[in-house]
Amino acid sequence: MSLNEVERLVKSKQRVADHGEVFTPAWMVENMLDLVKQESERIDSRVLEPACGSGNFLVPILARKLATVQFRHGKSDFEKRHYALFALMCTYGIELLADNALECRDNLASLFNAFLGIKDDDEWALAAHTVLEANIVEGDALEMTFSNGQPIAFPEWGYLGKGKFQRRDFRYDNLTQRASYEGTLFGQLDEEDLFVPSRTYPTMTVHQIAENVGQI
Ligand SMILES: C[S@@+](CC[C@H](N)C(=O)[O-])C[C@H]1O[C@@H](n2cnc3c(N)ncnc32)[C@H](O)[C@@H]1O
Repeated sequence: MSLNEVERLVKSKQRVADHGEVFTPAWMVENMLDLVKQESERIDSRVLEPACGSGNFLVPILARKLATVQFRHGKSDFEKRHYALFALMCTYGIELLADNALECRDNLASLFNAFLGIKDDDEWALAAHTVLEANIVEGDALEMTFSNGQPIAFPEWGYLGKGKFQRRDFRYDNLTQRASYEGTLFGQLDEEDLFVPSRTYPTMTVHQIAENVGQI
């Protein structure tokens, strides 16, 4: 590995010491994703990177999902756009440092916009912005809190078809309890009985999601 390559994986020695901030090289990310190839390519697989940095994993995962969107829905512009947004909706991250979280959202937005061939002020780009604000959290993955100390909640987005999306928010600390129920009587219960959303939204179109920029 050249000195240049090493420099791209580290922003400063201080940040490495303080936050363990060393980025994963692209070739290694691709090899790791190949180990879970089907899941990484599935449009609706929900992926969370709890220390996402600037998106070295999340960006290639979104790229794989979008390749599937092109393959499955490339012939219909309507379906292609909706499933591309849904792919983004299934991509989640937590990052402690504000500049990394912002970079991560920007990197994912650039890929999404390039895929659809749209500019930053397009309605679809604004909808993607709303999604990224909610899905890529600036916070502490160990404490499970946003940077303001409030408990992290993630949106569970669903695509209902015909241009309609659904959103329900769940607290991250509740979701992580799932494993502790396995093998107990609670393990027999349906997820619906175990996990109660902290907020449920009316169904939304892309236009309505785009209008919520900065408000959700
Ligand atoms: C080793 S880097 C990995 C970044 C990215 N996943 C990659 O592979 O390129 C770890 C990242 O986790 C962040 N981080 C450290 N502690 C964290 C915490 N408690 N919660 C969320 N993110 C954290 C750091 O700021 C850094 O960006």
